[in-house]
Amino acid sequence: MTESTRTRTKPAFPRGWVLAGALLVSLALLANAVYTYLTLTRLRAQYLDNRGYEIAAAIDTQARGSGRRNNPEYWQSMLDAHYEVYSGSAAFLAVVAPNGRVLASVGDAGAILDPGPDLFVFEEELGHPRRGRREPHPGMRGWKMRIGLYSSSADFIRRLALMQLALAGAAVLIILGLAFFLLRTLDRFLKLKAREGEEAQLRALGVMSASLAHEIRNPLGAMKGLTQLAQEDLGPDHPAQERLRTVVGEAARLERLVSDLLDFARPREPEVREFDLVPLLGDLRGMLQPKLAAAGVTLELPDGSVPLRSDPAGMRQVLLNVLLNALEASPSGGVIGVTLAREGSFLEIRIDDAGPGFGGRDPEDLVRPFVTGKTRGTGLGLAVSRQIMESLGGALSLGSNPGGGARCTLRLPDPGLRP
Ligand SMILES: Nc1ncnc2c1ncn2[C@@H]1O[C@H](COP(=O)(O)OP(=O)(O)OP(=O)(O)O)[C@@H](O)[C@H]1O
Ligand SMILES: [Mg+2]
Repeated sequence: MTESTRTRTKPAFPRGWVLAGALLVSLALLANAVYTYLTLTRLRAQYLDNRGYEIAAAIDTQARGSGRRNNPEYWQSMLDAHYEVYSGSAAFLAVVAPNGRVLASVGDAGAILDPGPDLFVFEEELGHPRRGRREPHPGMRGWKMRIGLYSSSADFIRRLALMQLALAGAAVLIILGLAFFLLRTLDRFLKLKAREGEEAQLRALGVMSASLAHEIRNPLGAMKGLTQLAQEDLGPDHPAQERLRTVVGEAARLERLVSDLLDFARPREPEVREFDLVPLLGDLRGMLQPKLAAAGVTLELPDGSVPLRSDPAGMRQVLLNVLLNALEASPSGGVIGVTLAREGSFLEIRIDDAGPGFGGRDPEDLVRPFVTGKTRGTGLGLAVSRQIMESLGGALSLGSNPGGGARCTLRLPDPGLRP
């Protein structure tokens, strides 16, 4: 199968760069968010540690200079006196000996030795070793202040960390969404520009081919007519009949090409009137019957009556083109099904066949004029049909038949369809 295609100039647009830029910015944002999250998580531990130090220092400072610093009872009274102030953030306050023995404590006694996951345990030797003011007292060397802090008191930092992570995620989504939107809009714009250029080219080509087709049509008709007369003169058994039949056949093919070209280049004005789609389809089946029988293909049509207000001649031409395509694609024994459906305010006529479908080809390419996969095709059938459908306020699209094969869908505005 040969496929004639036209070279299309693809709009040069640095799509890759835009995407790479958006991805890079997104990655940088995410990396920064994760780094900040980790830093904030570390800050949380630091916050709790500082808070523990603050409490220990406050109590320890008051006990400094006291001659009773080596007396556990003194520490008990100190802890008792301070606990009320810190009970909001600390589950317990305790003074423990280096061997782990609890010398004095207040608050949740069970948590001193088994704090569990909800508590952050701060522990430091008495005498502010952090500030270099250590004053070890004889008999209390190594005693430690142990403080069980509620981890939840630093939850605001976790919330902050999560919030900035969520913000970064939202920013990334916005950036990617914007990049996608930008690319899609640009894509549409460039396609529209390309299509406009193509349409202008086609119009010019149309004018040229229309005048050429017009000039060809009359002599061609004369050649075909004269050859048919010669066939009659010579009688059916003449040895030249075979060659003359070929001449008539080829002339008929050229006539069709010329009229397709004229249809495409000079579309006629639609003549809108009321008619019934079902008998029109029946007529077409009658017309195609010899071809259907030769190919061993069945054409199944809807029953009943479907009144429409549209252009019957245009619809006839479109349906003929599409049915011919389906027939040419159908294998022997295949069924072509025509079904009608109402889609909103549109009537959809679906023509399904059991052929090979469009394979990997872009159906939109096949609708372009002069694109054909057939050795004897003009590649104008679908282009003319789409033009007619659009002139009727409808559309033509190609897709897949859910049962395999191709589906051609014709959409028509449907003021007349009765449910
Ligand atoms: N039902 C279908 N199944 C498979 N391929 C299809 C079908 N309909 C159309 N095509 C493909 O699309 C191409 C274009 O179709 P189109 O009707 O425009 O031109 P054509 O049939 O080749 O020539 P003609 O102008 O004689 O109709 C076909 O050549 C064929 O390759
Ligand atoms: Mg065709």
